[in-house]
Amino acid sequence: MKPNVLIVEDEEKLRRVMELRLSGEGYEVTQAGSAEEALSLAPRADLILSDLRLPGMDGLKLLELLRRQNGMAPVILMTAHGSVGAAVEAMKLGAADFMEKPFSLDHLSAVVRKAIEVRTLRDENRQLKEELGRRYEITNIIGRSRAMQEIFAIVMRVAPTRATVLLAGESGVGKDLIARAIHHNSPRADKPMVKINCTALPENLMESELFGYEKGAFTGANVSKPGKFEQADHGTVFLDEIGDVPPQIQVKLLRVLQEREFERLGSNKTLHIDVRVVAATNQDLRAALEQGTFREDLYYRLNVVPIDIPPLRERREDIPWLAEHFVKKLAPDAGAQVEGITARAIEKLEQYPWPGNVRELENVIERSLVMARGTMLDADDIRLESARQFKAVAGDFALPSGMTLDQYEQEIIKQALKKADGNKSQAARLLGLTRNALRYRLGQMGMES
Ligand SMILES: Nc1ncnc2c1ncn2[C@@H]1O[C@H](COP(=O)(O)OP(=O)(O)OP(=O)(O)O)[C@@H](O)[C@H]1O
Ligand SMILES: [Mg+2]
Repeated sequence: MKPNVLIVEDEEKLRRVMELRLSGEGYEVTQAGSAEEALSLAPRADLILSDLRLPGMDGLKLLELLRRQNGMAPVILMTAHGSVGAAVEAMKLGAADFMEKPFSLDHLSAVVRKAIEVRTLRDENRQLKEELGRRYEITNIIGRSRAMQEIFAIVMRVAPTRATVLLAGESGVGKDLIARAIHHNSPRADKPMVKINCTALPENLMESELFGYEKGAFTGANVSKPGKFEQADHGTVFLDEIGDVPPQIQVKLLRVLQEREFERLGSNKTLHIDVRVVAATNQDLRAALEQGTFREDLYYRLNVVPIDIPPLRERREDIPWLAEHFVKKLAPDAGAQVEGITARAIEKLEQYPWPGNVRELENVIERSLVMARGTMLDADDIRLESARQFKAVAGDFALPSGMTLDQYEQEIIKQALKKADGNKSQAARLLGLTRNALRYRLGQMGMES
């Protein structure tokens, strides 16, 4: 697009000469011989060259009106020789530059080129600022880091579709929150979002929970009952901890994802449903693929739109904003008079590695609010409980002497099982493994019961 230069000059000959020169240099030139013409042409100009003395209107008055018509276009005034005083006055009123008549055409070219350059730079700068300012915002989800901004952009793009989303990230990074945001920003928002925690369900119950059952399907099935998928028809199913789904249910999930159909337990009537599936995992599913505990075909069906939420320690820029958010959100409930958080407190939070991610930050703020006495949460109010534990891990790390890695792993697994009273799901969670991955390891250790 050619920049538009408006020449305002009552002397027709001068106007023509200027026009020839400037259009020869690739500008689109419009001409005005009077103030009225100038004002009507001003809005589409990128740059205005205006005579300071026009019949019918004082030059400074015209300048003011031109600036009002088009605040973006710089105005360069052409002044009579020796009228520097008026020119200075004009600059004060917002003229970008002035040229004393008579001027050479080369001088004209140079002044115009410079003004257009400055104008372009200024435009680019403003555009950049606007882009930086146009952050993606999702209600109640805080994220100024680049990683979170990208996630918000993906969420807004996929939410309106039925595409399956796989959320991955450590515990407490905000997978539930993002899953809900996807549902709420989708056309399914007024239909239910049904969450299924795959870890919490014992294997034999999971199938009937998911797909429902008919009366008499098993002992105790006195009435028929729809499953979660049926409840979520036209809405969203959120499969949390997808890595914990046992193999025989993985097959059925695959069919739901591929065909959107299934049967209730004890029924041979095929049901068709319209659901959007969002799944989440805090373990590395690819590792589960390699170990064969998670079906590859199911993984690819789930991984249509992968969203990896990085741990908080990898996006520390978010910490101040999150801290502020939690203070505002939690202070009323904590009965605290706290209105904000000090820079020192923020610094302390920024240095901590946050193994429990945003959830831990939220808990720390909540606890600190209860302790706080002033109106600002200060560094001393903040207790980071697991700090010591973390340091121990971060220090020199070596296997206990005389132990092999395998033996050590077995020992840790045994301890986890003991801590979890033999509950494998819970032990797996303590170890950061899927239940299936734990089962696999136990099998290798000859401990699978
Ligand atoms: N970006 C964020 N902005 C505001 N609050 C957040 C954000 N991320 C997480 N939270 C808050 O932190 C807590 C933990 O988040 P959430 O339950 O979504 O984590 P998760 O990844 O599902 O964890 P888990 O794997 O343990 O289920 C919630 O209270 C949530 O509201
Ligand atoms: Mg969760």
